[in-house]
Amino acid sequence: MNVKDLLETIRAHGQAHVLAFWDGLDEAERGRLLGQLAALDFGLLDRLTKDLLAPDAAASKPPVLEPAPLIELPKTEAERDRFAEARAAGEAALRAGRVGCFLVAGGQGTRLGFDGPKGAYVIGPVTRRTIFQLHAEKILALRRRYGAKLPWVVMTSTANDAATRAFFEARGFFGLDPASVRFIVQENMPAVDRRGKLLLETRSSLALSPNGHGGSIKALHESGACAWLAEQGVDTLFYFQVDNVLVKIADPVFLGFHLQAGAEMSSKAVRKRDWREKVGVLGRVDGRLGVIEYSDLPEDLAKAANPDGSLRFAAGNIAIHLLDVGFVERLNAGGFRLPFHKAEKAVPCVGPDGRPVQLKPGEKNGVKFETFVFDALPRAKASVTLEVAREADFAPVKNAEGEDSPATARAYLVAEAAAWLEAAGRRVPRQPGGMPDLCLELSPLTSFDGQGLAGLTLPELKPGLKLAL
Ligand code: UTP
Repeated sequence: MNVKDLLETIRAHGQAHVLAFWDGLDEAERGRLLGQLAALDFGLLDRLTKDLLAPDAAASKPPVLEPAPLIELPKTEAERDRFAEARAAGEAALRAGRVGCFLVAGGQGTRLGFDGPKGAYVIGPVTRRTIFQLHAEKILALRRRYGAKLPWVVMTSTANDAATRAFFEARGFFGLDPASVRFIVQENMPAVDRRGKLLLETRSSLALSPNGHGGSIKALHESGACAWLAEQGVDTLFYFQVDNVLVKIADPVFLGFHLQAGAEMSSKAVRKRDWREKVGVLGRVDGRLGVIEYSDLPEDLAKAANPDGSLRFAAGNIAIHLLDVGFVERLNAGGFRLPFHKAEKAVPCVGPDGRPVQLKPGEKNGVKFETFVFDALPRAKASVTLEVAREADFAPVKNAEGEDSPATARAYLVAEAAAWLEAAGRRVPRQPGGMPDLCLELSPLTSFDGQGLAGLTLPELKPGLKLAL
């Protein structure tokens, strides 16, 4: 599109205000702004404004909600045997080189407020181990145990791509072969005000932000990552998010259930703590599997109980999935797009006078459009939802303090290391409340699932000890 046509399009879609400072811009600034505008899908923006921002946008028929079928934690001997069979099937797939890892790390991490990619955050309770290092060492340990390639795709966004790659390079890819790690970049979406008008971050640039973790489905295809995985014989991808420090990467039990069911996309779930917990639940929406956001689950359903008193809608989504590579490719055929959701957020921007708008604390001046990976679930021909214990699989770093913060994540890491040492026959001092009375950090290279700890030579585990293993 030439510049004249582009300017015409911008005006025709009611977005001419983005050119308000045009006359004062130099050539480079004009080029940058035009480049950003040329990449926009104005038709899509119009549709989203109409569908998601118009006053009557929310007024559709309430969907019929039902719980998702769940493979619960094993209680009987027979169920434990089923889990052991699933583990064996998953381990066979790992050994056969059929599995790859997929980390989504394109988010902005605004709640944590850390200056850099979230994966560069130091999370080790004893050493300066970062979140990226923790994930990388789990993958390295898995590769060693199963003699598998286990290629790793890392999704970034334009805002953190260069910093993420530089971080991996500066740390020698944490011991992984750089050729076995592939970075892909997700797309951006423009932020708008509540009327759908584009926001300017500066006089010469749009306010853009990554298009949500659902952007991963398209990025996997467009970047050539799916083809790269398929060439290496990988047909199953373990999807995880950067902020979950407890994630059991490529968990063989999960892999086994997924593969035995011939599933195309599967999910792990933790039992909701209580009906109030603000977590999306895996369920059926008008008969189709998906995630029901907590804000969409009416209070009476959120409180509904089974005859044994347990919650009916209990399967809390923890954003751990398995994806069949062919399924991802099929989704991308024919221009499929995941639905967009709107999120009201504080968006740094300039006002009509070209000066930065001063936002009050907590003020949300803009709307971002995001897609969610779990919206691909209804498209899967078969799917498995597997219950896992929270303390085994889920400790996200979302907030700077309080719930889901570095402090809670570190406590979970210490608790896991302590439990594994006890299971291996060691005595771990505990506080009266049951918390470990020492600070432990276990390298995934020493053990990533509790195995291999029995033979370790350890100092006496005294109260207050700080120990990195
Ligand atoms: P969150 O929804 O928690 O967002 O992402 P965030 O960006 O990390 O944090 P806030 O909301 O700004 O505080 C969950 C996971 O999805 C990834 C994140 O990197 C994280 O691993 N994600 C999120 C993406 O990869 N891309 C996105 O556009 C959004």
